[in-house]
Amino acid sequence: TPPTNINKSMDDIVALCRRRGFIFQSSEIYGGINGFWDYGPLGVLLKKNLKDAWWRDIVTCPPDGPDGQPLDMVGLDTTIIMNPKVWVASGHVQGFNDPMVDCRETKSRYRADQLYVYKPQQAEQNALMFAFLEGEPEPAVKNMKKALGKQADPANYFIEPLLKVPAYEYAYVVGPHASKPGTLTEPRMFNLMFETYIGAVRDEESKAYLRPETAQGIFANFRNVVDTSRVKVPFGIAQIGKAFRNEVTPRNFTFRSREFEQMEIEFFIHPDTAREWYQYWRDARYNWWKSIGLAGSNLQLREHEKDELAHYAKEGAGTSDVEYRFPFTSPGFGELEGVAHRTDFDLRQHAEHSGLGDKLKYFDQERNERYFPHVIEPSAGADRGTLALICEAYTPDESRPSKVFLRFHPRIAPIKAAVYPLVNKDGMPEVAHKLYRQLRGKYTVEYDAKQSIGKRYARMDEAGTPYCFTIDGQTLQDQTVTARDRDTQQQQRIAIDQVEAFLAQHIGG
Ligand code: GAP
Repeated sequence: TPPTNINKSMDDIVALCRRRGFIFQSSEIYGGINGFWDYGPLGVLLKKNLKDAWWRDIVTCPPDGPDGQPLDMVGLDTTIIMNPKVWVASGHVQGFNDPMVDCRETKSRYRADQLYVYKPQQAEQNALMFAFLEGEPEPAVKNMKKALGKQADPANYFIEPLLKVPAYEYAYVVGPHASKPGTLTEPRMFNLMFETYIGAVRDEESKAYLRPETAQGIFANFRNVVDTSRVKVPFGIAQIGKAFRNEVTPRNFTFRSREFEQMEIEFFIHPDTAREWYQYWRDARYNWWKSIGLAGSNLQLREHEKDELAHYAKEGAGTSDVEYRFPFTSPGFGELEGVAHRTDFDLRQHAEHSGLGDKLKYFDQERNERYFPHVIEPSAGADRGTLALICEAYTPDESRPSKVFLRFHPRIAPIKAAVYPLVNKDGMPEVAHKLYRQLRGKYTVEYDAKQSIGKRYARMDEAGTPYCFTIDGQTLQDQTVTARDRDTQQQQRIAIDQVEAFLAQHIGG
């Protein structure tokens, strides 16, 4: 199948999200705040359906393992602020850094690894280079034309990462939004953790951090979970929760935010079984995203190259990303979820830094062996997942450009069905309202009697509602309603007492 997201406009998607109440800028009435987003009435339902589907498929009803038996999985909900020693042990205090570059002229700040430069093909002394942010070369081409006039041609340049440009050449680099060369600073490391203070005194002693990942809450509770539940290796602990990163350049809508939600699993295994479990989770997670509607050519599984691996994964069985082709990465892909073999790095670090040492080891009765389990970690972003679902579902109507369908998988659609009286008289509203009250105990349904029926259908198509049931004149005679399908726009008549069974069949319980 050819790539399908190339022609989708991100500006149109962002505008739809705003207009229909999926996603708003945080603090919009004060001009917003960069890197923070709010979920509106439809967005919160969509994101919750995604998280609920994940929780159900991981914790409540976990998948079968390689032996055909359901996996041993439990859930957890840990705090956002933890003892700061956790972040020293995990390596985040020393190492959770991004290289950052400032522009002295525009006061903009960029992540150095996201900056590229147009460098002349023919090496000339003092020749200008033009920097741009990954995926946004236009300002650099504009700068090139401004500096060199009409003969400026990007074909005479090659593209190189800024991090490969030696410091002495920075004097000739024009920043992405600057008017003259030499305004970019050399890259400096910038720690991504948000800091705060606990209690009344603000000093080094009272400093704490907002968690940059939910994973460490799981590792810090490893012993509590083993001691209080009946889990045995191999088993997993799952958590959904907020994480915070002071990203240097938040961008691409919610894709890179400063506050976001993660859905993480730490799956504890015997070290000898790492390869098998790594492959199991990599495939399981890819297939899960497919099962909720990210099918087709926009989803891919990509194994990391050796030089991309995180510090804890260097010696491991591997790391892969489940990637989605977002309109702003297209034709390339962006990370949705990482699946990493974290080895026993975290448990060993916590054993050492907490002073618990070997007490944090797991005793395996079957093997009669005490060891630090290895970990396979599938770590997904709920906001990136929600954004991918919106981008995938977004389908402009080819015959009417102003009209849009959101073709959500029924399982994650914010509203499952709408119930309408065809007109607001002749007893139709009463029958429709009765059906609405019956359905709403089981499904998120909406009742609407305003505007023409065509406008009401269009509203639901845009909200991604898979079915609409309409009570009309015939209902009053033969107790049937029309069931309209969002994707085919076909209508069929079904008995009013069969509507609930219809939804159960098409959407699930
Ligand atoms: N515990 C491992 C971990 O945190 P990560 O790759 O840094 O790994 C996991 O993050 C997932 O969290 C990513 O795949 C992505 O979906 C999401 N994520 C990370 N940074 C994000 C950001 N700034 N904004 C939105 N989502 C983010």
